[in-house]
Amino acid sequence: MKTSKIVEQIPPSGIRAFFDLVLGMKDIISLGVGEPDFVTPWNVREAAIYSLEGGYTSYTSNKGLLELRQDISRHLKHKHSLEYDPSDEILITVGVSEAFDLALRAIINKGDHILIPEPYYVSYGPLVTLAGGKPIFIKVNPENSFKITPKDILKHCGDRTKGIVLNYPNNPTGASYTKPELKAISKAVIKRSLIMISDEIYGDLTYDFNHTPFPTLPHMKERTICLNGFSKSYAMTGWRIGYACGPKNIISLMTKIHQYTMLCAPIMSQMAAREALKSGERSTQEMKREYRRRREFIIAGLNEIGLTCHKPEGAFYAFPSIKISGLSSMEFAKELLKKERVALVPGTAFGPSGEGYARISYAASLSNIKEALLRIKRFLAPFERTKPLDKSSGLRPEQGRRTKK
Ligand SMILES: Cc1ncc(COP(=O)(O)O)c(C=O)c1O
Repeated sequence: MKTSKIVEQIPPSGIRAFFDLVLGMKDIISLGVGEPDFVTPWNVREAAIYSLEGGYTSYTSNKGLLELRQDISRHLKHKHSLEYDPSDEILITVGVSEAFDLALRAIINKGDHILIPEPYYVSYGPLVTLAGGKPIFIKVNPENSFKITPKDILKHCGDRTKGIVLNYPNNPTGASYTKPELKAISKAVIKRSLIMISDEIYGDLTYDFNHTPFPTLPHMKERTICLNGFSKSYAMTGWRIGYACGPKNIISLMTKIHQYTMLCAPIMSQMAAREALKSGERSTQEMKREYRRRREFIIAGLNEIGLTCHKPEGAFYAFPSIKISGLSSMEFAKELLKKERVALVPGTAFGPSGEGYARISYAASLSNIKEALLRIKRFLAPFERTKPLDKSSGLRPEQGRRTKK
């Protein structure tokens, strides 16, 4: 049977591929999945229960409940002085995942280029390809704190460049951008007339400075599709609820696709999202405090055992170098799983520049993080640390050979 070539050719998610190995294994400490270890706050769950009791089981408007769009509009105004018209500048989606797909499909003509900093969240590259575009990757590395610069953008722009994706705080690196850094980026965006798709799903989990939404920057509201949701900051991954804010014409195109594919986000999740916003940020702040505590602990611990790690500014991921082991990222993850029963994600799941790194989620209990660090330390012990490093690769000479196999 002839099936879609384009779908056949895109790779399955590297995270899933790795976690298929984990399935069925016992006594694993999992620092792999990117989701809060908290359950959704009780008042939010209760709102969904009441909505079901009250018989709210129907479709909603394609754009989502007007009341929820109004709540989001008020929330953005109150928190960031951002003004979006709930009637036509906000769309409720099935998670940021759907919003991202809609945004791409609304702007891409066949062959358009979309810039993506790499390593990148696993969906970005494949979804650009599926939308008929071409992902152009901009490599980031620890030397530039895993961040892109305006220069990088200009260097990677060509005649077909339509837009750029920025995810901050970032999955997998945890890097985020200060307001001056974003302002500098916005200048390159203007210079090349790009559309910005700004994935700010971890915005509320920024630890060292205030998160600046991209559309708050001068002249950026009219060229940004800003995506956010409830999965991470309200521990609501299973509810599948997110939203997009942007210029009227783009939101209208996104709504057109959404009305044929999803119709609407689930009504009970929309009701729950209203309660999440209504209850303010108390639970988000509590979770954030806990993530921050874990961040301090895990970063210090990783550096101490020799897995050098920059300090992530947000989200709940550490992205340490595992080069000291001389193993490839995949070998490291597989061996660690087999020998010490700790699951993390090989850096290569997020693109080729993830080679030599691993993503470790600290959305896990402090006791599990402590135990995982002990196990990783034990795992690393047999790797000798006395021979000088090969400066170019960061690997010891014989280890370099090993990774080339
Ligand atoms: C950067 C980023 N964007 C989007 C998503 C998907 O979010 P949602 O659950 O809202 O679909 C994730 C989930 O891990 C993510 O890390």
